[in-house]
Amino acid sequence: MILPITVYGHPVLRKKAQPIDPNYEGLQELIKNMYDTMYNAEGVGLAAPQVNKSVRLIVFDSTPFQEDEPTLKDFKKVLINPEIVEIYGEDIDFNEGCLSLPGIREDVVRPSKIRIKYQDENFNSFEEEWDGIVARVVQHEYDHLEGKLFIDRILPIRRRLINGKLNAISKGKTQPDYRVVANK
Ligand code: NI
Repeated sequence: MILPITVYGHPVLRKKAQPIDPNYEGLQELIKNMYDTMYNAEGVGLAAPQVNKSVRLIVFDSTPFQEDEPTLKDFKKVLINPEIVEIYGEDIDFNEGCLSLPGIREDVVRPSKIRIKYQDENFNSFEEEWDGIVARVVQHEYDHLEGKLFIDRILPIRRRLINGKLNAISKGKTQPDYRVVANK
């Protein structure tokens, strides 16, 4: 089922999300719905606050980047209670977008590599090191769990330049191709 997406101005996007335990009701359905919602909106990653659930859950599928890197085909994961243990490598500039910020794209600098601990959809624990696009996507999605957005990481001058667009999104004047949660 495709869920409506929260956009800039919705308070859930600024809240720190809560851990999930194995008894969380409807978890498998929520994961499936998040994938449906992400694919429908042509996103590469989605964090639970973007479907109005303030819990520590991320899904991603890096397949759209397979032309840059063939190993990214079908590289998809569910990250429950992720913890970024280490962020390292060189700083890279990359043009980011976000389903919660329709119509906005900005260059964001982030380190190239991460070491992460997480649980999968069956609560098996993993610790892995990722780089490239996957490290980028996961850092972006992890920010959502901390109540952060990529526009918090751009230069103040760039932020001022997109202020009008942000206001339009928060007032519901921007209509993307997918369903959004109306801001109060
Ligand atoms: Ni995002």
